[in-house]
Amino acid sequence: MSDPIRTAVDLEGEDIHWDPAEGLSYGRYLKLDTLMAGQTPLTDEHDEMMFIIIHQASELWMKLCLHELEAAVALVQRDQTRPAMKMLARIARIQEQLTQSWAVLATMTPSDYLSFRDKLGQSSGFQSWQYRCLEYRLGNKNAKMARVFDKEPAAKARVMAALNAPSLYDETLRFAARHDMALPTSVVEREWSNAYVPCDEVEAMWREVYLNTERHWELYEFAEKLVDLEQKFQQWRFNHMKTVERIIGFRRGTGGSGGVSYLVKALELRLFPELWTVRTAL
Ligand code: HEM
Repeated sequence: MSDPIRTAVDLEGEDIHWDPAEGLSYGRYLKLDTLMAGQTPLTDEHDEMMFIIIHQASELWMKLCLHELEAAVALVQRDQTRPAMKMLARIARIQEQLTQSWAVLATMTPSDYLSFRDKLGQSSGFQSWQYRCLEYRLGNKNAKMARVFDKEPAAKARVMAALNAPSLYDETLRFAARHDMALPTSVVEREWSNAYVPCDEVEAMWREVYLNTERHWELYEFAEKLVDLEQKFQQWRFNHMKTVERIIGFRRGTGGSGGVSYLVKALELRLFPELWTVRTAL
C-alpha cells in the first residue's frame, strides 16, 4: 500500500511549548490583543466586518508606504538614490496589494452596503490623514485638503508637516540639479507647500536623460521607478472609483463630495507631470 494520507503533522520530537510568563510571544510582539480589539461594527450586518477590515488593512499598508517613502526622500536628499530605489520598489509592491483589495470590496453589493451606510455618518476617506500625508509627500500639494483636519490637532500637525516638506519629486529635481542638470532656481528652491507647476525646463531635463540614458543612468533608472509608482497609484485610484460606482452609483459621498464625479476628477492628477509629457516629446 502507498504511504498513508497525512491528516495531521506529527509533532513528536518538536518543542512547541512556551510559557506566557517568559519573555516575548507572537501575540505580545505584534500587539494582537490591541489589533484584534479594533473591529467594532455598528450594526449586525454581515458585510460591515469586511468593510472595517479592508479600511484598517489599507491604513496599515499606508503606514508602511509612508515609512518607506519618508526614508526614500531622506536618502535622495543625501544623494543615495540606490537604496531609495529599493524602497520605492517596495512601495510599488504594496500598492499592488492595496489595489487588489478592491476585488474583495467589490463582493459587497449595493444592497449589502446600503444596509449599514447610514450609520457611517460623515466618515469618509477624506479624513484619512495617512492618505493625505502620502499624497503630499508624493507631490500632490493641495493645501485645501488639510482643512478637513482642523478639529483634529494631532492629525493636522502630521498633515501640515507633510504639506510643508519637499515632495519626492521636489527632492528628485534637487538631486538632478546637484548633478549638473540645468534647472531653474524657482524649481529647486520653491515654497514646498504650493502646488508644483510643470515647466519646460524640467521636461527638457528629462528629455536629455531619456535621450542619453548611458550618460544619465542613475537619473534614468530613478525616473522609471517614479513612473512605476505613479502608475500604480493611478491604478489604485481608478479601481477605487470603479468599485465605488459599482456599489453606490452616482450618489454623493459621505464626506460631502459629488462621489464618483470627484474620484474621476482626481484621476487627472499628475504627481510627476514632466515624466509623462516627456514621453510625447521624445
Ligand atoms: C464601499 C466602499 C467605499 C465607498 C462607497 C467609497 C466612497 C468614496 C467617496 C465617494 C469618496 C470621495 C469623498 C467623499 O465624498 O466621501 C472617497 C474618498 C476616499 N476613499 Fe473611499 N470609498 C470606499 C472604500 C474605500 C476604502 C476601502 C478605502 C481604503 C482606505 C478608501 C479610501 C478613500 C480615500 C483615501 C479617499 C480620499 C481620496 C482623495 O482625496 O482623492 N475608500 N471614497
